[in-house]
Amino acid sequence: MSRASLDKDPHAVASMFDGVARRYDLTNTVMSLGRDRAWRRATRKALGLQPGEKVLDLAAGTAVSTVELAKSGAWCVAADFSVGMLAAGRKRYVPKVAGDATKLPFGDGVFDAVTISFGLRNVVDHAAGLREMARVTKPGGRLVVCEFSTPNVPVFATVYKEYLMRALPAVARAVSSNPEAYVYLAESIRAWPDQAALAEQIAASGWSQVSWRNLTGGIVALHTGHKPLD
Ligand SMILES: C[S@@+](CC[C@H](N)C(=O)[O-])C[C@H]1O[C@@H](n2cnc3c(N)ncnc32)[C@H](O)[C@@H]1O
Repeated sequence: MSRASLDKDPHAVASMFDGVARRYDLTNTVMSLGRDRAWRRATRKALGLQPGEKVLDLAAGTAVSTVELAKSGAWCVAADFSVGMLAAGRKRYVPKVAGDATKLPFGDGVFDAVTISFGLRNVVDHAAGLREMARVTKPGGRLVVCEFSTPNVPVFATVYKEYLMRALPAVARAVSSNPEAYVYLAESIRAWPDQAALAEQIAASGWSQVSWRNLTGGIVALHTGHKPLD
């Protein structure tokens, strides 16, 4: 699988995730130096979920992000187009749906909130994914995007860039079932828009009141938005 096909072909992306599914959770925790748990907690809190609300966790993968959301008492459904990732999360007891982010198998306005963690960067047509998320959300409903971003402290940014390009592929070779996939992931993080540019894309794709908050010095950012009332 080439880098070029991952940039253009959703099937190549789904196969890549099928290939890393078996050791995805472990690799994630090792490579984020254990920070992934705090980022998931922050995402749940930013969504402000209430018991009984309906929430879509898009690009949920092994549902590791979904089970954190379910702690709120909301009804949380995990959706992903990698059946291998969903299957690797079979012991996580949340509803799971196979589906493409750009053609979601849900009606209009059915969710109180939608969220996507470390997934939007991998959706080949990001804007189409954001518009679909807006379509399935009720007017007034909430969006939280949790994604790698641009560190906001210059020295830290240099160290982080070195980590991404050198240490991360080495760590992936030691723990992942498909190390090449992590080279692609490191490159995709570097190519991703910074906080302000992503906020503009979200606002141009059907969301209002878009803002963001940095986590871990901007390594990750949480972008929030609302579906306009009309
Ligand atoms: C890095 S994983 C994130 C998994 C999980 N949300 C987490 O926080 O660990 C990215 C996921 O995005 C999914 N994905 C990428 N493009 C997608 C699309 N067009 N539709 C549905 N899922 C997609 C991949 O299959 C993969 O499981």
